[in-house]
Amino acid sequence: MDKIVIEGGRRLEGEVTIAGAKNASLPAFAATLLCPGPFTFTNVPDLKDIDTIIALLKDLGAAITRPEKGVVVVDTAGLKSYEASYDLVRTMRASCLVMGPLLARMGKARVSHPGGCAIGERPINLHLKGFGAMGAHTALDEGYVNITANDGLHGAKIYFDIVTVTGTANVMMAALAAEGATTLENCAREPEVVFLADMLVRMGADIKGAGTDRIVITGGRPLKAVETAIIPDRIETGTFIAAAAITGGSLRINRCNPADFEAVTIKFIEMGCTITEGNGWIEVSGPKRPAAVDIETAPHPSFPTDMQAQAMAVLAVADGTSVIHESVFENRYMHVAELRRLGADIRMKGANAFVHGVPGLSGATVMATDLRASASLIVAGLAAKGKTSVRRVYHLDRGYERIEEKLKKTGARISRQPDK
Ligand code: UD1
Repeated sequence: MDKIVIEGGRRLEGEVTIAGAKNASLPAFAATLLCPGPFTFTNVPDLKDIDTIIALLKDLGAAITRPEKGVVVVDTAGLKSYEASYDLVRTMRASCLVMGPLLARMGKARVSHPGGCAIGERPINLHLKGFGAMGAHTALDEGYVNITANDGLHGAKIYFDIVTVTGTANVMMAALAAEGATTLENCAREPEVVFLADMLVRMGADIKGAGTDRIVITGGRPLKAVETAIIPDRIETGTFIAAAAITGGSLRINRCNPADFEAVTIKFIEMGCTITEGNGWIEVSGPKRPAAVDIETAPHPSFPTDMQAQAMAVLAVADGTSVIHESVFENRYMHVAELRRLGADIRMKGANAFVHGVPGLSGATVMATDLRASASLIVAGLAAKGKTSVRRVYHLDRGYERIEEKLKKTGARISRQPDK
């Protein structure tokens, strides 16, 4: 296991290039189960979660090659299984995304129930409710969800009680095999959902309304494989904005899509950052000291929960008190106790965090507990005086492509070291 060691207090300056989005890659890879390939993906990030979805697809019978860096070719012509094992699902809960496409292609799916995770209970009841409304039968046995549609799927009207990103993607993919029209209400509007719908439409699907809260899918269209470039990772981009903000640095962030993270940009401008943007890039300069701002996380286009921890690290050194309200996940504050070890003054009351900005942080050994918490600790470590060691970085490697190398190029004193 590795740790990331940072000598904090250095201003970042330079350019970084954003990788393809993990959360766009995973549903797009799952969509290859809908019909035989070959599907070619470009701009694929080099991440642990990508290795996991590739292992899962191989397990199901897919032939996969990686002809060059960032390119993955998937062909599910030899699909032979409809089961996603416990071992794979427990390492990555987004493995559930194979449910919808397997159900559409094979009329059945058997997927290990993902259970809860560090940041919350994260049930999949709404995915299953959607499949059920289209005529599928679901049953749990030995921790596996068995979904069958012996008489095929039919169009339905489905309302998501809570906005769910992977739920919207999963049910949208299953609906491609349903006879007639399926209307999904209260859908996730995340750029990754729009990206998936765009890929499916290029495959031949009839999908209207992606990017709004109402998506209509007319099923039964023949599908074919397509070539797809993965969209840039908006959360990696936001993490670099936070890194510039906390160090008073100046970064040009290339190969990103500013329209996908406006709520984040606006909040960092409120904190005192200067941000300019163009087609595929943004430039951010951090203030001398950030100003306190209030943040409430909510589904897109609001402030993303996946940026809450990194923003909190910046607000920990802000001038004044910020109130952060986390409305998406019930337990997404695992980074708070670790930020306190660096000197942050944060008080919790239910889903609210009161962040009383301190003039500076000081380095310490801290423990990463989940993906975005890891990023938050790295952002904090960049500003903390002295040495910060972030342990358990395997969480980080699930979603960030060699972040320490990118930060090093912009002047951070940061390295990856073996940990015991
Ligand atoms: C996705 C993202 C994750 C992000 C999250 C919220 C991927 C692979 N992951 O996760 O990075 O943090 O969106 O933006 O894209 N819920 C239910 N029942 C369900 C499904 C969800 O109650 O059947 C609840 C969850 O517990 C949570 C909320 O809905 O409170 C939103 O979760 P959801 O959007 O489903 O998150 P994921 O799709 O798992």
